[in-house]
Amino acid sequence: MNAILDVRRPKARAGVSRRAAALLSVCLFPLFTPFLAGAADLNGEARKLTASLTQDEKFVLLRGYLAVAVPKPPGAIGSAGFVPGVPRLGIPALQETDASLGITNPNNIRPGDTAVALPSSVATAASFDPDIAYQNGALLGRQAAARGFNVVLGGGVDLAREPRGGRDFEYSGEDPLLAGMMVGAAVRGTQDQHVISTVKHFAANDQESQRNTLDVEMAWDALRESDLLAFEIAIEQGHPGAVMCAYNKINGGYSCGNKMLLTTILKHDWAYPGFVLSDWGGVHAAGDLTAGLDQESAAELDAQRFFADPLRRAIDAGTVPQARVDDAVTRILRSMLAAGLMKQPLTAPRQQTQAADAAIARRAAAAGIVLLQNEKRDQDHTLPLPRTLHTLLVVGADADAGVQAGGGSSQVTPVGGYAREIPLGASNGLEFFRVSAFDPPAPLAAIEARLPGVHVLWVDGRSAKQAAFLAAGADAAIVFANQWEGESSDVPDLSLAGGQDGLIAAVAAANRRTVVVLETGGPVLMPWRDRVGAILETWYAGNGGAEAIADVLFGQVNPGGRLPVTFPATEADLPNRSVPGMYLPSGAPVNVTYAEGADAGYRWFARAGKKPLYPFGFGLSYTSYSLSNLRVQGGATLTVSFDITNSGTRAGADTPQAYVTSRAGRPGLRLIGWSKTALAPGETHRVTLTADPRVLADFIAQGNKWHVPAGSYTVCIGESAQNLPLTATAQLDSRDLAP
Ligand code: BGC
Repeated sequence: MNAILDVRRPKARAGVSRRAAALLSVCLFPLFTPFLAGAADLNGEARKLTASLTQDEKFVLLRGYLAVAVPKPPGAIGSAGFVPGVPRLGIPALQETDASLGITNPNNIRPGDTAVALPSSVATAASFDPDIAYQNGALLGRQAAARGFNVVLGGGVDLAREPRGGRDFEYSGEDPLLAGMMVGAAVRGTQDQHVISTVKHFAANDQESQRNTLDVEMAWDALRESDLLAFEIAIEQGHPGAVMCAYNKINGGYSCGNKMLLTTILKHDWAYPGFVLSDWGGVHAAGDLTAGLDQESAAELDAQRFFADPLRRAIDAGTVPQARVDDAVTRILRSMLAAGLMKQPLTAPRQQTQAADAAIARRAAAAGIVLLQNEKRDQDHTLPLPRTLHTLLVVGADADAGVQAGGGSSQVTPVGGYAREIPLGASNGLEFFRVSAFDPPAPLAAIEARLPGVHVLWVDGRSAKQAAFLAAGADAAIVFANQWEGESSDVPDLSLAGGQDGLIAAVAAANRRTVVVLETGGPVLMPWRDRVGAILETWYAGNGGAEAIADVLFGQVNPGGRLPVTFPATEADLPNRSVPGMYLPSGAPVNVTYAEGADAGYRWFARAGKKPLYPFGFGLSYTSYSLSNLRVQGGATLTVSFDITNSGTRAGADTPQAYVTSRAGRPGLRLIGWSKTALAPGETHRVTLTADPRVLADFIAQGNKWHVPAGSYTVCIGESAQNLPLTATAQLDSRDLAP
């Protein structure tokens, strides 16, 4: 089925529908979930259970094991982590698996176990559709449960403030509202399957270079308005059972021992009832428990097994209070109770969901594809490609094997096994993370299947001359180009590696109908942009990627993805010319003051007056849309409504966005909402968005509150952060909100 038709669409009807397109518009209010249901009962039950544990049994729950090596800890299935249970009281072990892009199988610890590789989180964010994120999350929950896992280490919601960040593909873009909403929906999907999900890495793990020694020095108010707001929204929307603290320091203290972060903000201000588990090797002292850490993960990776003997000694010495130990245990048990882990047998049979899960992966991959350029060639636009071609050249990026996957702990052994693996060599002792792998099936095969009788030529692209020669004789050329990204290192720069820019330029010079298909974890520079006919950003698209790419190339799917990250025109326009600390020897201490502060991504570009190559929120379609009749109401918050019309000839899903551009006389660009709306040709819907007041507010660290200044607010709507044709103003009352 056409993925666009698959999007939940209000009944097609020409003319103006006055019904708010609430179904797909962003809902900014916390939703009901079992994690909140009967909150008082859960706390009481968890406390009772804690009281019935011996001290030794409490310690069993406080400390986790690495479960990726043989011999596995007794009882472990084999995965990233394992925390034994307390069988005497029916408390099951925590079987923890990575992660957001599919159920991983590190080290092939479960021989031969493959799983659906979902598109990367940045691709899911590009759908701007929380329902896609929810379905992905639910798939993860089902596939985890089918293998006996009850904790998914997913929910990456650090901001992509550093576009060269090695894990940006695992995160959900540069805007806190978008990232929070999308990740919250994914977490909800997972937990609806009675599996605990984390959100991670709390907080500001926004680059990989020196991640174990990096100290992010940023004012707490700026953090509250950016990175921490993304977590806050994700937690409200998803109610994750656990929060994973990060490797880096924030304002002098390691995240996993940072009292301000874990106790003051997370547990006090946000009243978070779940538990904090550490990142693997992220604990530095037994006293981290006092700061708010509840569970030491994979303790073998820390300098000492801190939440074992050192913690017992600290309790005996009175430096760590017993009450904090009991609170930590209660929080762990509360999340287990909330997820139903004590009674829920892990049963979902894998076979039943396989076909459905493949369809979910394909739909998600298609929904994340962003059409960046589509020039007219003779009468028609370059895309979709006509099926009347006689000869088509396909080049590059191992498209004869599969689609690019990102590296690191999130890397899934895909259904069908890796199509190709290219070791990249170690730069920091983590060589197992540095493998450029490709997920099947091959885009080349998916393209060929749509062109029976057409002469499809394939070359790997190592010779630009050969590719150009063949392109000159073809009706059209598709150049696949990739950029590998992976955990533990950042990308050196935003240029496509390995001569790919030269390859694209050579093919484009030989054939005007050249389509570039990018498989990247984030933005890249495009020196050849003006010479090519069309550009598609397909990210790391996973097992559904090949079919989704072919669906878009040939028009079976009308692309509707939007950029969740800004694509800069040059790296000189970024706040940092290179990733801070990236050229220092591994483990060197680095302090970073991100110059943009709360204004990550497009906010920085607006503030600095820089024009990006492609702005946040941008994406073209095979149809056209128009916006009209903007109304903005003020008072306690902003309510924005407008009409959206599909003014073209194809069905499609548009994502109009609303931004404030000035708050009480102060300029600055902030996304306040969007609506993913599916429309038939000629159809119009009225969209209504209500702004979460926090995106209109300043965080006042001194008074520990959000403050919405009174005055006139300018609201603009449009199709990206830089194309905002309709403007209106409204007055807001002064308002303080709890932190
Ligand atoms: C990563 C986490 C992951 C953990 C377990 C760490 O290296 O930072 O995201 O969940 O490993 O694999």
